[in-house]
Amino acid sequence: MTQEVTVLGLESSCDDTAAAVVRRDAGGRGAILSNVVLGQDDLHAGFGGVVPELAARAHAEKIDLAVERALAAAGLGLVDCDAIAVTAGPGLIGGVLAGVMCAKGLSAATGLPLLGVNHLAGHALTPRLTDGLAFPYLMLLVSGGHCQFLRVEGPDAFARLGGTIDDAPGEAFDKVARLLALPQPGGPSVEACAAGGSATVPLPRPLLDRPGCDLSFSGLKTAVLRARDAAVAAHGGLPREMRADLCASFQTAVAEVLAEKSRRALALSDVTTFAVAGGVAANRSLRAALEDVAEAAGLPFVAPPLALCTDNAAMIAWAGIERFDAGDFDDLTLAARPRWPLDRAAAPMLGSGKRGAKA
Ligand code: KG4
Ligand code: ZN
Repeated sequence: MTQEVTVLGLESSCDDTAAAVVRRDAGGRGAILSNVVLGQDDLHAGFGGVVPELAARAHAEKIDLAVERALAAAGLGLVDCDAIAVTAGPGLIGGVLAGVMCAKGLSAATGLPLLGVNHLAGHALTPRLTDGLAFPYLMLLVSGGHCQFLRVEGPDAFARLGGTIDDAPGEAFDKVARLLALPQPGGPSVEACAAGGSATVPLPRPLLDRPGCDLSFSGLKTAVLRARDAAVAAHGGLPREMRADLCASFQTAVAEVLAEKSRRALALSDVTTFAVAGGVAANRSLRAALEDVAEAAGLPFVAPPLALCTDNAAMIAWAGIERFDAGDFDDLTLAARPRWPLDRAAAPMLGSGKRGAKA
């Protein structure tokens, strides 16, 4: 038996202002009592990407509202919560600060303990909230800002087996959409366009020739740019079928690279489950490829529902709950951290994506 714990979670590290209330019952099962996400897509639509200053201001304006709505939807007050968990990094610093300041204010006013959560830990621990996964498992985190293989060993124990050395896959989908004049976010529009084409354009499979699980996506995007320019030069424009073939070819290349690197990560990691999280996990051909990899390895494949794969505060509340028992609380000196690698022993990955510093 474990103690029943109810935690209010706050998330504001990129372009979603989110608050949620999550409860773990005495049997150890998690339940999401509310999960509010106030997106900023409209705010950034005209800029082709997230504008950090606009995002930070919108978080500061909306975070109180998100908290109010999350508590109301859960039918609870702050007095019914046992702690406040907040994303303290990594991410866009202005946004992270807005969440951390709000959480500190709530903690100071109520006396509730404060838990500064690593955003990546939130993603990585989500399969324990949704499916009660036991440690250790392999997590592939694929989103607009992150791409890494993690062996998840405990609430605060993560071994990074590899990750991207440049762009995250979602970032590459978004850039390819921009190159092909498709709407943002690029992932869903590239996937929809790919459905009408076939993977006939030869594109590279970056880093497959190198051992290990590191990935690279920026060369793939450049190869799409070259193929587009060649098609435009040959046809005096980009024919509709050519655009669909480019999308299908790009998507296939991403799926094949991620599948092969997942095979390698599984071979290295000695785990009983393969889990995936992040917005790119919504991609059907990628999901199918990863499912095949898990099946071939004789392991179950777990992909949380999409609303919990993309950025949300329920995962932050849950990550806080996982730390609650240890009494591992923060105080009002909690700092916002733009960079915060999960695996402190691993060498830092270089670069910074459109969603801020990569971990
Ligand atoms: O996890 P997420 O909501 O935000 C962070 O990046 O943290 O992921 C958003 C990313 C975007 O880059 C979006 O284009 C991508 O996930 N995405 C997809 C699909 N749906 C969303 N990528 C490929 N295929 C999709 N169906
Ligand atoms: Zn995220």
